[in-house]
Amino acid sequence: MTAPDPETLGRRAEAMILELGRISAEPDRLVRRFLSPEHRRAADLVAQWMRAAGLAVSEDALGTVKGSRGEGPRLLIGSHIDSVVDGGHYDGPLGVVAGILAASHFADRPLPFGIDVLAFGDEEGSRFPATLASSSACAGIFRPDTLLLADAGGVTLADAIRAYGKNPEDIPSASYRRGSAAAYVEVHIEQGPVLESRRQPLGSVTAIIGQTYLLVETTGEAGHAGTVPMPLRRDALAGAAEAVLLAERLASDTRGELVATVGRLAAEPGAANVIPGRVTLTVDVRSGSDRQRAEFVQRFNAGCRDIAGRRNIAIGVTPTREVATTPCHPSLQDAIAVAIASVGSEAVRLGSGAGHDGQAMAKLCPIGMMFVRCRGGVSHNPLEYASPQDMGLAVAALIRFIERFKPV
Ligand code: GLV
Ligand code: MN
Ligand code: MN
Repeated sequence: MTAPDPETLGRRAEAMILELGRISAEPDRLVRRFLSPEHRRAADLVAQWMRAAGLAVSEDALGTVKGSRGEGPRLLIGSHIDSVVDGGHYDGPLGVVAGILAASHFADRPLPFGIDVLAFGDEEGSRFPATLASSSACAGIFRPDTLLLADAGGVTLADAIRAYGKNPEDIPSASYRRGSAAAYVEVHIEQGPVLESRRQPLGSVTAIIGQTYLLVETTGEAGHAGTVPMPLRRDALAGAAEAVLLAERLASDTRGELVATVGRLAAEPGAANVIPGRVTLTVDVRSGSDRQRAEFVQRFNAGCRDIAGRRNIAIGVTPTREVATTPCHPSLQDAIAVAIASVGSEAVRLGSGAGHDGQAMAKLCPIGMMFVRCRGGVSHNPLEYASPQDMGLAVAALIRFIERFKPV
């Protein structure tokens, strides 16, 4: 069998990623949401590539595209094809494309295990207030109450699944049988600056950081911006602003071990001459320590009670998502590091501050991740970029990993 050629693989990866990047709901920025017409088009393109790579294609009830080959225990290789709003081209698609190119390399050669390349549709949570629905279904941990969550237009996940031509009742059959999956491996851009600062193209991930999502609702009283004196106001937005700064201060006090982000805030009724009566905002809390995140939530709750008391408003804090810190399996960390070394690179060991489908897949089987350097560490941004050289090395390393892989 011919040795993988990183240069050719990198050029092919780049061409495929750019082609996928042209599928967007908006002409001037990348927006590809779960179960949208763009998801459909992207899934069809991925299915076409999978067939060309000799894979048998199927699709589950959440639209996850699966390209399969061979018999026996399954080596799962995947990532996601949804995007954040105004996202980059590489976050997600690189892992799907890498899996397809690597599987294609083995098209004429039997392996002692089967391979499933998986293209998930809901890693970013950019449509419904939940994430990892697709990989959770594959891992057998999909929570049926997720079906009731609605998008910004009021469409529930259950209705969106039906509109996509699927049936929510089929979700349990998306799950792999316990013991049938030997491992889940994902190639992903780093989305941070570590590899670039170490001048290395590839890394083996040690763990994926845990996440807590909070939905905060402040309720005061809407009123006339000209007539209500300042001491008599119950301004929901001023209270929310204090909550935003509280989250920032509590995170800053941890000196970098925990990060907290308020990425969405909506004030109602949202008019220039009306005191806001109600505000909703999200807090995304991340830390490698599950205990530290729990402590943050406790302090944040106490601080919000204090703000509410001082301002005579109500503040509700509801946790909407909790994902524990997920270690990558030590033997897969090592195997990925060996594969990286075999293509002539130094394998940097690093943690992931971003969330990944592996967090759900770890409930099914051991997981491993390979990170690829991205320019300036920039991600969730249209300027996101990984070079064809680095991506080619990653696919070549994935091929080396598959050559040596032994299901346990
Ligand atoms: C997904 O990319 C996340 O980390 O939020
Ligand atoms: Mn991603
Ligand atoms: Mn992302």
